[in-house]
Amino acid sequence: MISFDSKKNSFRLDTPNSTYSIFINERGYIGHAYYGSKIGEDDVSYLTRNMEYGFSGNKIFREKGMFLDFFPQELPTEGLGDYRESALAVCDSEGHNAIELKYKSHKIIAGAKELPGLPAVFGGAEDCSVLELTATDDILGAEVTLIYTVFDKIDAIVRSVRIKNNGTKPFYIKKALSLALDIDNDNFDMITLHGSWARERHMERHAVHMGKQGVVSMRGETSHQEHPFIALLDHNADWDSGRVYGINFIYSGNFVADVQRNQFDNIRAVMGINPEGFTWKLENGEVFDTPQAVLVYSDSGLNAMSRTFHDLYREHLIRSPYKKADRPILINNWEATYFNFDTDKLIDIAREASKDGIEMLVMDDGWFGHRSFDDSSLGDWTVNEDKIKGGLKHLVDEVNKLGMKFGIWFEPEMISPDSDLYRAHPDWAIQIPGREPGMSRQQLVLDITRKEVEDYTYESVAKILRSANIEYVKWDMNRQLTDIGSVALPADRIGEFYHRYVLAVYRLQERLLTEFPKLLLENCSGGGARFDPGMFFYSPQIWCSDDTDAIERLSIQEGTALIYPLSTMGAHVSVCPNHACGRVTPFKTRGYVALSGTFGYELDITKLPLEERAMIPGQVALYKKFSSLVRNGDYSRIASYSENNEYDCWASIAKDKSKALVTFVQVMNHPNYKTRFIKITGLKPDARYKVTWPDEDLSKLQPVELTGLTIAKAGIPVRRDWGDFQGQLIYIEEK
Ligand code: DGJ
Repeated sequence: MISFDSKKNSFRLDTPNSTYSIFINERGYIGHAYYGSKIGEDDVSYLTRNMEYGFSGNKIFREKGMFLDFFPQELPTEGLGDYRESALAVCDSEGHNAIELKYKSHKIIAGAKELPGLPAVFGGAEDCSVLELTATDDILGAEVTLIYTVFDKIDAIVRSVRIKNNGTKPFYIKKALSLALDIDNDNFDMITLHGSWARERHMERHAVHMGKQGVVSMRGETSHQEHPFIALLDHNADWDSGRVYGINFIYSGNFVADVQRNQFDNIRAVMGINPEGFTWKLENGEVFDTPQAVLVYSDSGLNAMSRTFHDLYREHLIRSPYKKADRPILINNWEATYFNFDTDKLIDIAREASKDGIEMLVMDDGWFGHRSFDDSSLGDWTVNEDKIKGGLKHLVDEVNKLGMKFGIWFEPEMISPDSDLYRAHPDWAIQIPGREPGMSRQQLVLDITRKEVEDYTYESVAKILRSANIEYVKWDMNRQLTDIGSVALPADRIGEFYHRYVLAVYRLQERLLTEFPKLLLENCSGGGARFDPGMFFYSPQIWCSDDTDAIERLSIQEGTALIYPLSTMGAHVSVCPNHACGRVTPFKTRGYVALSGTFGYELDITKLPLEERAMIPGQVALYKKFSSLVRNGDYSRIASYSENNEYDCWASIAKDKSKALVTFVQVMNHPNYKTRFIKITGLKPDARYKVTWPDEDLSKLQPVELTGLTIAKAGIPVRRDWGDFQGQLIYIEEK
């Protein structure tokens, strides 16, 4: 709910459990007064700090240079006295760097609005409303609109900024972040997500120190290394208690998320497109929209924050027809064969898989051009009939005859120097004229910001999808961007390249979904480097990591589930020793960990040891039984192996609290060790629940019957298993 008080000149943005308060001061600056737990209907403009002064100056007259040094602006700008991190910086055509925003007008609109060319949250008048606050800099001729989408049933506020040139000369946007948030530091900690290839999104927590700290990507995509997410939280906050501010970016390119603790022990957090390497020339009459950034507030710990992000993304960002439907259980041939496969091999895998209830075969990298390793053919999207004997349609038809769907892998944005495409159009690769472009995985990146290259790329994928009954696409990206240059852009617009590249990726995927609306799209980037909410707008699931080891996945999936719904996490069972780290884990545990994602297999089923193969129908049955609960339920983290070095535990609890599925993984065993009592909050305190182990021989285990209150406060007993890496599934159902 959004309300405006014309006497106090203030706006109040209310979600079910939070209040966000904006105030226009007497000089016309748009100030941020408050964000946190719900407060009364009071004038809180005093919170914008009227007593401090940054330099030894005159306290009475509040000169502008001093005033801006402490005033919490909703969108702080560069150049006029706010020395903290700015969110908007502009250079005029004479080279001066200044922009000053003064309130002009506002609009309150029912229901969310689209963002041209960008992913955006959606919702009707019953879900959310939008505040558009317009400010101007009349000297520059700039009109800047701060846009807030406020959700009525979810504790989330989504922000973006629109910049328009109403002047007579062009100006250059040097920095256009999507949000800034000033809050008082209360001994806050900060959580960020970091990693590398095969080690994505590990959580890190530390105290917020003085000065600047944060996360960035300059890789042209979100990246394995850092993630556009920060949480600011009470030092004592844990999974179920304490205040948490979560900030996430709905974007798939270079980003920055900075936190700065300053002289008055105030914290400013900012998030948006990384200003490094970015400029955008805005001609008279042109508009620039920033992507959206999401603010979530929880006064009851990290689990409540996670659930808010999950609900927001499931209900108001993912559009796919698959978002509520069961996903087909797939088998992917990557770890089974790598590049070494043909029609017969794929049909063998599909035939055996179909016997065990697996529902879709995905043909991964290596089916096109003359690709038999990662050194050729990207860009030549014609079927290699030496491998795919009889052609693609024949293969797909044969797989369909087995009762299975068919899916295919692409890496549409890339070009191999050893390709017919490169031989015909060497200039289509991103490069700086006169400089040899840097290779990575023996490939270059197509300049899809050029219309003819975008069209070629689109047709390459679409023509294959038109040729057979293909129901799933894995869209991969196996290198990051370097050597930024484009013949399509003049010198003073090269700084637009990274963002134009992301817009082109979004355009390509939008075109694909428009022509093939039933397609199940899974984004991927060398594992999980494109796991971001921008991609959810196009694909309801994203490959989480090339590391399929069940124990490595605990930390990866924990960090991912901190923000993203389990229904979005691509997770497969693969063989041991694991291909990424060599670890050997029980097949059962591999299944349990993958069940908390989209679930599938990534192995040669024809070569699987018999005792493992025999477990597949049971795993398929577990997926069928629990998929809806896992996909649509409330996620709750109970214990974290990355914190305790011993065991991991999480639950999916039905929205009506009638049932829950708990996954427990004993990572390390100890001789003669204690039974653990696992406490699960979020069930109905007075209801009686039956606790069972659905995948175990129940003659050896006695079901337990307990109330929700006892389960939350005293816990359920979890037996100690023999050996390391042992998993258990525990099902709790109301009697
Ligand atoms: C990276 C992906 O993450 C893998 O699953 C696989 O598709 C390879 N690329 C293929 O090159």
